[in-house]
Amino acid sequence: MDVFTAISQRCSVRAYKATDVEEEKLKKALEAARLSPSASNRQDWKFIVVRNKETRKKLAKAALGQSFIAEAPIVIVACGMEPKAMLACGQPMHTVDVSIACAYMILQAYELGLGTCWIGAFNEDEAKKILSIPDHVRVVAMTPLGYPNQPPSRKVRKNLGEILCYEKYE
Ligand SMILES: Cc1cc2nc3c(=O)[nH]c(=O)nc-3n(C[C@H](O)[C@H](O)[C@H](O)COP(=O)(O)O)c2cc1C
Repeated sequence: MDVFTAISQRCSVRAYKATDVEEEKLKKALEAARLSPSASNRQDWKFIVVRNKETRKKLAKAALGQSFIAEAPIVIVACGMEPKAMLACGQPMHTVDVSIACAYMILQAYELGLGTCWIGAFNEDEAKKILSIPDHVRVVAMTPLGYPNQPPSRKVRKNLGEILCYEKYE
């Protein structure tokens, strides 16, 4: 599968089979995160792989009750280790870096036949408590990882013409 096929075909998965995810597939998805770029190559991130069913249920509860999260055999929680670091452009480094890594990971997962769903709606304090994450570390995102139990449903996107301008902001 080429990159553009993965980008254009992937969709968020909100129903999962109980089927376990092979270790090699999990590792390959995580490798995609590991190999992704970060500001000054700092790689100040940590990915927590959660297989424990009770913990997954707790995370789903922390994610405002999005119960499908716990259906998947794995939940990956992506953290930024140095949240005080800022980019010169004013954006927090960890948000940008961890988001890029997660994007690479979910695309790789798609190529492997696995479903993901970026989860941004969660109570960070609760998630940190569940996973014993230190105070200074920020949770940027989480995603279930597993085999989809739903047909793909692709969302419509804006046309390029609506989001593009040339030479100056219009
Ligand atoms: C920053 C961010 C936060 C999101 N949070 C959630 C979430 O909490 N729950 C959920 O079901 N989907 C969440 N999504 C998934 C989006 O709803 C989804 O990507 C969008 O509707 C486009 O659909 P697609 O992923 O199928 O292309 C989030 C996506 C992003 C990028």
